Amino acid sequence: MKDKLIIIGASGHGKVVADIAIKMNKWQSIAFLDDDESIKTSMGLEVIGKTADAFTYKDEADFFVAIGSNVTREKIQEKLIEEGLNVVSLIHPSSVIGTDLEIGIGTAIMAGVVVNGSTRIGKGCIINTSSSLDHDNVIDDYVHISPGVRTAGNVRVGKGSWIGIGSVVSNNVNICSDCKLGAGAVVVKDITEPGTYVGVPVRRVDR
Ligand SMILES: CC(C)(COP(=O)(O)OP(=O)(O)OC[C@H]1O[C@@H](n2cnc3c(N)ncnc32)[C@H](O)[C@@H]1OP(=O)(O)O)[C@@H](O)C(=O)NCCC(=O)NCCS
Repeated sequence: MKDKLIIIGASGHGKVVADIAIKMNKWQSIAFLDDDESIKTSMGLEVIGKTADAFTYKDEADFFVAIGSNVTREKIQEKLIEEGLNVVSLIHPSSVIGTDLEIGIGTAIMAGVVVNGSTRIGKGCIINTSSSLDHDNVIDDYVHISPGVRTAGNVRVGKGSWIGIGSVVSNNVNICSDCKLGAGAVVVKDITEPGTYVGVPVRRVDR
C-alpha cells in the first residue's frame, strides 16, 4: 500500500468514493484525475491531471476508478491492471461485511451496505449506499448494485449488469450479464437475455 490514493473521476460518484477513502484513514493524501479540465478541485481535494497521467504516478500511488459507467470503468481499470498499477478496493467502515467473502480489486462498498456470508463480489463493482446482498450471492465483475437494492440468498448477477435503485431480487434468481434493471424493479425469475427490464415483476422494455 502506498501513502497516496489517486481516484480517477471527480464527479458525484468520485465524491462518494473519496469520502470512503477519507473514512478508511489509510492514505496520507488523496487526489483526483479527471479529463474535464474545468474541474480543479472536488470535495476540497485537488485534481492533479487527466486519466492518462495515472501512469506517471505508478510508483507513488494506489488507484481507484470512480466512474459510474460499467463499460468505461472496466476499460480504464483493466488498462491500469495491465500496466501494473496498484488498484485497491474501498470498503466503508460503516458497512457490515460477513464471513467467507471475496471482494475483487477496484470494488467500492459504500456506507450502510450489508453483505452476508459466502458471497463473492468481483472486481470493479459498485455496491452502492445501503444496499444488501444476502448469503451465497455471486456478483460478477463490473456490476453496479444501486442504492437500496436488496438481493436474497443465492442470487447471481452477471458481468456488467446494472441493478437500479431500490430493486429487489428474490432468492435463487440468476440475472445474466449486461442487463439494466429500472428503479424499483422486482425480479422473481431468472433473466437470461441481456436487456432493459422494469416493473413489478419485471418486463423487458428495450425491444
Ligand atoms: C430503466 C431506465 C434505465 C429506463 O430508461 P429509458 O431507457 O430511458 O426508458 P424510458 O424512460 O423510455 O422508459 C421505457 C418504458 O419503461 C417505463 N419505465 C422506465 N423506468 C421504469 C421504472 N423504473 N419502473 C417502471 N417502469 C419504468 C416507462 O414508463 C416506459 O414505459 P412505456 O413504454 O409504457 O411508456 C430508467 O427509467 C430507470 O429506472 N433508471 C434507474 C435509475 C437508477 O437506478 N439510478 C441509480 C443511480 S446510482
